[in-house]
Formats: sequence, structure tokens, C-alpha cells
Amino acid sequence: MVQTFLSLNLLNMALPLPFTAVLLLCAFAAPIRAYVEELDDSLLETRQPDDIWLIKFYAPWCRLCMEMDATWHLAASELKSAGSPVNVGKCDAVANKGLAKAFKVHSYPAICMWKNDVKYIHSGPRTSDAIVEFAHRVSGPLIRPLTSAQLFQHALQRHDVMFVYVGASSPLKGVYSSVAEKMIVSMYFFSAGRDVLPEGTSLPALPAVVVFKDGGYLSYNETSDGSLMAWVKRERFQNYARIDNYMLYHMGDSEKLVLLAVLDDAHKSPQNLRSKSLVQKFSQDYKDVYSRKVHFGFMVGADYINGLIMGELSLPAVLLLNLSTDSYFLPPERPETERHLLDFMEQVLNGSIQASGGSGVTQRLRRLVYDIKVTLSPLLTEAPVLIFFLMGFPLAILIAACYLCRKNRRGDEDEDQRPVSSWGQNAHQKSD
Ligand SMILES: *[C@@H]1O[C@H](CO)[C@@H](O)[C@H](O)[C@H]1NC(C)=O
Repeated sequence: MVQTFLSLNLLNMALPLPFTAVLLLCAFAAPIRAYVEELDDSLLETRQPDDIWLIKFYAPWCRLCMEMDATWHLAASELKSAGSPVNVGKCDAVANKGLAKAFKVHSYPAICMWKNDVKYIHSGPRTSDAIVEFAHRVSGPLIRPLTSAQLFQHALQRHDVMFVYVGASSPLKGVYSSVAEKMIVSMYFFSAGRDVLPEGTSLPALPAVVVFKDGGYLSYNETSDGSLMAWVKRERFQNYARIDNYMLYHMGDSEKLVLLAVLDDAHKSPQNLRSKSLVQKFSQDYKDVYSRKVHFGFMVGADYINGLIMGELSLPAVLLLNLSTDSYFLPPERPETERHLLDFMEQVLNGSIQASGGSGVTQRLRRLVYDIKVTLSPLLTEAPVLIFFLMGFPLAILIAACYLCRKNRRGDEDEDQRPVSSWGQNAHQKSD
């Protein structure tokens, strides 16, 4: 009797604790979970025309996808609390080939957005801030009207590069919209009346498309600038900027060369600062000469560049990239003055410095070997035993299988005791 009472009491005492824990867990987990829906192919039929979806495609075996889960939930709850109309989901792309195919998903995780029957793919950083910003940008209006001088100034402070359509409706505005529809994955597009532009902005005629950047502005000229799309791709970066991997990747579309100071992690050291400010000063002093052909900037850390040149740069370094062919030019020695840089640029443009790298067949093979080497080498130092077993185990099985085969064959043929080298046998028969 006493015993049952005791154990009951214990049970009573013990119950509430896990119970509360479960309740608490549910209270916290449920609302977060609820913002991310698990999607499948049926979305293709059930989606309403004005639904906007932000979808993460993943594969069950993709570790990066799992690691992104927390970020994804955070982004979803941030969108929710900002009152965004965007629905957030995730989809196993292996089990739901239909949906994944509709978005042309090739690699994981893929972050996509679906709005008005247009599908967008996010190719920026995978932080929750960047994802939320992407969702806000794509879900909002394609072209954002700046209706007052104050709004215009506010936007100008927030965007280093700002495209603005100025004027009434026109065929040019139609073209501008279609460019915005494609490029909104990377940047905002605005429109404004003539009266809200900063004082002193003089436009040749209206309508016009103008880009405000580098403390000035540039207007699109249909006859000399080619298509609006190509012009936007060329002009969507600042003349000089800090460049990261994503930006460099996108600069590949711009058809411009990139003059880059590559700094090491101690990027405040005098030597680093010298290279950086040399490129910066050069970009300003020779803006009129080169800005149509060249982007300028600096990058901290050489991982990406080392991958591109398949070697190891000694830092700080200055080099010129031709991203449309993955090729690069190195100055004969580290430039110290603007004169050196000027000579270097001239030599590249007149063809007297040869490009290295490129995207030819041999280059691609070299890249494959390089990538394998880079992937394996940290493993070799961190987990040599694992590598040994990974490589050694199949090898051992192969050797054992060969041995057994030979042994069986020899048993069948009832051969005499010749040396076991098949090479020797062949050679022997040949010489007969
Ligand atoms: C960069 O590559 C493009 C595409 O092959 C080529 O047309 C251009 O001449 C190259 N630029 C330089 C400076 O080599």
C-alpha cells in the first residue's frame, strides 16, 4: 500500500516535468513549423494565380540543405511577422520531380520564388537576411514609383546603384518592365517623375532610363548602348566596390573585365592597403577611359580566385579577370604606381600580355583534377584513416575477388605450376 502510494506520488511528480517540457516545445516549435509548408507536386494544380511562393528545394542526402533548415525557418517567421504575402515552403526535389522540373532545379539547396507564373531563382548569399530581402524584392511591385523628392533621396541612400525610369508611359517603359521582370532577382527598379530627380540632373529627352551610381548618373542611349537589357547588365555594378564571390559570379554577365586587388585576411596591413588604394585611385582617375570596359574592386581572401586560377596567389595581388572566358592576366610584377597599372592595362588591351586560364577542354580537365584535389586534401589531413578505409576497402575486395577467380580458373584448367604472372604467360606464348 505504502509502496503504491509512493510510486504513484513519484509518477505524479515526474509527469509534470516532461509534460511541461513537451508543452513548451510544442508552444515554441508549432508556430515556427507552421510557417514552412512541406510541398509536393500537387502544388502545380492547387496553386491560386495570385499566390506567391518562396520554396526551398532539397534532396534527402544533401547535408547543406539540412544545415539550412534553421535559416529557412527564421526567414519564414521574419516574413510572417513583417506581414509579407509570401507563402514559404520546402520541397523534396527527389520525391517531387514535377515541381522541381518546373523550376529547372539542378543543384541543392535551390531557393526559388513563384509569382504571376514567373519563376525566379535566388543566387545571392543564403543568409536569412538575404533570403528575406530577396522575397520582399520579388514579391513587391516590379517597378517602384518614387513619388516625392524625399522618397527619391531616401532610396538613393539605400541603393549604391539605382535604375530609374523617368517619364510617362511609352514603349521604352514596356521594355524597362520586361528587363525588370528578369533582373529583379538581383536588384530593384524604380520610376520617377522629372520633378523629383536631384537638382542639376539634365536628361537629353524623356522618356529616359537613368542609372544613379558613383555619386553621379548615366542615361541609357538606345543608339550607342545596344539593348536595354545588355546595358543594365553592364551598368548594374559600381565603378569600384568591395567584391564578393556572388558579385564576381554575376559580373560574368556584364562582359566587362574586372581589375581586382586581392587582399589577405589581415586586410588592414600597409601592404594590403597600398594595393587596395592603388586600384581605387586608378578607378577614379581613369574612369572616363576604362569604366565602359572594366569594373574595379577589391576582394578579401583568395579562395575563390585560387579556384579560378587553379593555383595559389601570393597576396596582396592585383590581377585582371575576363569572366566571360574564365581567363585572367597577371602583371609581370606587383604594380606600385598608377603608371604601372596603366601600362599593364595597355598591354592587355593591345594583346602583348597573354591570357592564362580559360574555358577550353584541357582547362576544364585541369579544373576537374584541381577540384578533386582541393576536395580531398583537407580530408586527407583531417581523416586519413577514413580515406584509407574508403579507398582501401573496395581495393581489398577487388584483390580478394581477383585472387579467388584465378584460384578457381587454375583449378578448372588443372594447369601445371607456372609462375602466376599472366604477363609472363603471354610473353612466353608469343615467343613460341
Ligand atoms: C574577354 O573574352 C571575350 C570573350 O571571349 C573576348 O571577346 C574579349 O576579347 C576578351 N577580352 C580580353 C581583354 O581579352
